[in-house]
Amino acid sequence: MKVLVTGAKGQLALDLIPLLERSGHTVIGFDSSSLDITDPDRVGYEAARVKPGCIINTAAYTKVDLAEKERERAFAVNRDGARNLARAAASIGAPLIHVSTDFVFDGRKSTPYGEDELTGPLSVYGASKLAGEEEILQLLPAHFIIRTSWLYGMMGNNFVKTILRLATERDTIRVVYDQAGTPTWTRDLAGVIVTVVDAIEAGTLDYGIYNYSNEGVASWYDFAEAVVDESRRMGASLKCRTIEPILTSEYPTPAKRPAYSVLDKQKIKKAFGVTIPHWRASLIKMLEEADGAVIKAEEKQ
Ligand SMILES: NC(=O)c1ccc[n+]([C@@H]2O[C@H](COP(=O)([O-])OP(=O)(O)OC[C@H]3O[C@@H](n4cnc5c(N)ncnc54)[C@H](OP(=O)(O)O)[C@@H]3O)[C@@H](O)[C@H]2O)c1
Repeated sequence: MKVLVTGAKGQLALDLIPLLERSGHTVIGFDSSSLDITDPDRVGYEAARVKPGCIINTAAYTKVDLAEKERERAFAVNRDGARNLARAAASIGAPLIHVSTDFVFDGRKSTPYGEDELTGPLSVYGASKLAGEEEILQLLPAHFIIRTSWLYGMMGNNFVKTILRLATERDTIRVVYDQAGTPTWTRDLAGVIVTVVDAIEAGTLDYGIYNYSNEGVASWYDFAEAVVDESRRMGASLKCRTIEPILTSEYPTPAKRPAYSVLDKQKIKKAFGVTIPHWRASLIKMLEEADGAVIKAEEKQ
């Protein structure tokens, strides 16, 4: 199937595009310079020109803290961009796969969030992503909105790389332990998106909102400890001796984050028959595959 992918240089798209191609799909990828999703005319024009069987939106304004200052920009990309893509998809009769976030929730629960639970974003980023979802829900019945959490991959900036950098520089790292969620490898999410594209090609019409993350639960502290331990086990020479658990209140950030944002994944497992790896197993796979490349890249910076 011919697939139009936005945000082609983002960390998710960099895993997704090769996977789609290896699965036999033809990808027309646009990065932010070749297609700005905030421009409705360009979005409509490219959709009509390419005529894909499906559009995948991985483009987003993802700077969670900066969004508190750049509210307009965050909404322009995450709300208006989603609206533009939904309109364009509707005009060519193609479904839209759109990636959203666990940050649409307020995190007051202590059991996993289902797709239908009450949203309540705590940050501008979360609010702008929720507004994007709402635009799609209104304009395009043929949608797959996939909410995911704590993404990391080999490319792009993410927590794994930040921790590895800090662990090469410092004796002690302080990491919050009162926010729980699930780290998710972009490769695993990309695999599920390919499954959804295959299903679209096969005529599946199970449209709607779906949660997807890796399995398990972790705090940022647990995640950091796993990154350091596993990297060291694989031979990385790291300076860090202590990872100190701290409270969110000891590490204030401009954007508030949910204290608990574990996602319930029963729906996507049932609808698409996917098996989901545990977050730590995926982290190990990613680090093994990187074979020190992530650490080396960080050392150069
Ligand atoms: N990262 C996470 O932890 C996380 C967690 C949950 C959900 N998500 C969601 O997952 C999706 C993929 O995230 P990611 O981590 O791959 O993000 P990313 O690495 O920041 O990539 C996003 C891409 O979108 C592009 N972009 C920004 N504004 C654009 C515009 N106006 N038009 C076209 N492209 C634009 C960016 O290009 P430039 O760099 O050139 O601006 C960037 O390449 C997003 O929807 C995000 O909200 C992410």
